[in-house]
Amino acid sequence: MTRSTSTGSVSDEAVHNRGRMWEGHPVTAEQRDFVQPTLPPDVARSLRLRLERYSPQMRESLEAVYGEQAGTTYERLVELASRAIAERPEDLRVLDEARLLSPDWLQQPRMVGYVCYTDRFAGTLAQIGDHLDYLESLGVTYLHLMPLLKPRPGENDGGYAVADYRSVREDLGTMDDLAALAARLRERGISLVVDLVLNHVTPEHEWAQRARAGEQKYRDYFLVFDDRTEPDAYERTLPEVFPDFAPGNFTWDEDLQAWVWTTFNSYQWDLNWANPDVLLEMADVICYLANQGVEVLRLDAIAFIWKRLGTSCQNEPEVHHITRVLRSLLRVVAPAVAFKAEAIVGPDDLVKYLGIGEHYGKVSDTAYHNALMVHLWSAIASRDTRLLQLALSRFPPKASTTTWATYVRCHDDIGWAISDADAAAAMVTGPGHRSFLSDFYSGEAPGSFAKGLVFQFNPETNDRRISGSMASLAGLEAALEAGDGLAVDAAIARIRLLFAAVMGFGGVPLIYMGDEIAMLNDYSYTDDPDHARDNRWVHRPTMDWEQVADTESDTWSPAARVLTAVRHLVQVRARTPQLHASVESQVLAAPDRRLLLVVRNHPLGAMVQLSNVSETPVQIATAWLRDLVGSSRASELLSGFDYDLTPHQLTVQPYQVLWFVSCA
Ligand code: GLC
Repeated sequence: MTRSTSTGSVSDEAVHNRGRMWEGHPVTAEQRDFVQPTLPPDVARSLRLRLERYSPQMRESLEAVYGEQAGTTYERLVELASRAIAERPEDLRVLDEARLLSPDWLQQPRMVGYVCYTDRFAGTLAQIGDHLDYLESLGVTYLHLMPLLKPRPGENDGGYAVADYRSVREDLGTMDDLAALAARLRERGISLVVDLVLNHVTPEHEWAQRARAGEQKYRDYFLVFDDRTEPDAYERTLPEVFPDFAPGNFTWDEDLQAWVWTTFNSYQWDLNWANPDVLLEMADVICYLANQGVEVLRLDAIAFIWKRLGTSCQNEPEVHHITRVLRSLLRVVAPAVAFKAEAIVGPDDLVKYLGIGEHYGKVSDTAYHNALMVHLWSAIASRDTRLLQLALSRFPPKASTTTWATYVRCHDDIGWAISDADAAAAMVTGPGHRSFLSDFYSGEAPGSFAKGLVFQFNPETNDRRISGSMASLAGLEAALEAGDGLAVDAAIARIRLLFAAVMGFGGVPLIYMGDEIAMLNDYSYTDDPDHARDNRWVHRPTMDWEQVADTESDTWSPAARVLTAVRHLVQVRARTPQLHASVESQVLAAPDRRLLLVVRNHPLGAMVQLSNVSETPVQIATAWLRDLVGSSRASELLSGFDYDLTPHQLTVQPYQVLWFVSCA
């Protein structure tokens, strides 16, 4: 006879045998009761030790979120952990051991990420295997394949509308292909990163289908309201994510005969994380994906998962408790696996995703540094780094065991997340500067070098976000169209500077597919009815492999010049211990507003980075530089030259980047 649990079936014999493997080991009664009896002794020992280590924090956070239901939820999680560790393939268990010996693996300067859509980069998952040499030549150690789990047919928000977490989008391959690819990548020292969409599923997902069919258990997986009373109350403080093509946060569903919470598009139904069954389901999915060989899970839209009336329903404390529960579970089952938070929120909220206070270092291992990205684009447009400096110097320090994911572009639009207070301190107004940036990057401002598109104009807030590829936003498209060689040089220099800024910040720099060969905007997205309404597709091109091949013969094409620059930055970065992410970057006030000054005080000696964000040369006195470097002779890592800092003046050329360390 078998008894069904929400996480599988347990036979009576198994129940009877429970506890056998624990002989000789002191464990709590509930741990003994909820573990699989058939685990090999070494795995059982690991499980026991890890449970002892992580149970207290797991229980604490469960109690904070689920109150009276915490105890049973904990038991169900231990049972799930025991089953998942039993299913974990041996090679991944070895990886777990290795990672436990190198807990700083994500913080190391050799880490470099690459982000791409499987179909647009290679075709299928199996065909990604044809491009591993290319990735290796770029120094990639982390490969984020954009959403690849089975989405709904038709419009699906670039795959962020998942219909089944346990199967792969059919045209890309199968789950076995994914596991095989993960193993091939692992052999090359590349970690596979996959999206985990936590906040919502599509109405095509089995849970939503069963809710629609009238099963109360599954209706409780969602946030469903019979009339507008509660939705209207929530709407009073909720922002709009897609005000243009998906206004409002609730959608009427005929089958449910109710309003369902849909923060993003009407076809993305928010999950009810206040229901522990949802936590258990997702925990199971996480272990399943970890056991396929996924090494980093990108926690999509994590900020939104907890709702509270009267708030923006983002960054609520329960979000961090839930992450801590899930991460503790992963530390027990698959310690090789890390979490990356996708929380595009303000600085004080953002550092919480890497853990502060009771959660210090216990939630996500890495998180997108959205502010760095936004302020780099802002500085490049205004030729002024003061706002960037003020905003980043106010950033609270992150947990020293964690790391930023730094980036210049990604698959999303750029929202001008610049606070009014920071703007005022830099002597500009928030609305005025945000509007300047939208004008600049849409190419509307006189003298702008950029070519971008306005995304999601919100007439209520006057917000205009921007879509566009890195190269087009940095001026290459306009320069090539004008046939202006000097403007092409300037655009390439800007691109190099932006890459250097994210590679030198300390964190995992993410190269967004195509940017390394300066791919321009792709306007063909309007031909595809599933993409036409969403201009983010303008910067989601198909990889131009011909262009890559041409870089061999035509070494002076923009693609070749950018590719060479990126490879060089990656190589220098990998051999620079000062870039280990345990050290914070300090963005200091530079003697000239056109200079970006970043200092990393590492025990091996300081690293001082100077970048000129303008097209004019800047002369500076060297005395303060000597003090920061700590010596009058400095090695400049990017050129390989030594500098004598004794003379009084140094000229930083237009868009030049200098990475100084003391000459030992
Ligand atoms: C994340 C994704 C974005 C998507 C949203 C909803 O922000 O980056 O592309 O639209 O989540 O899933």
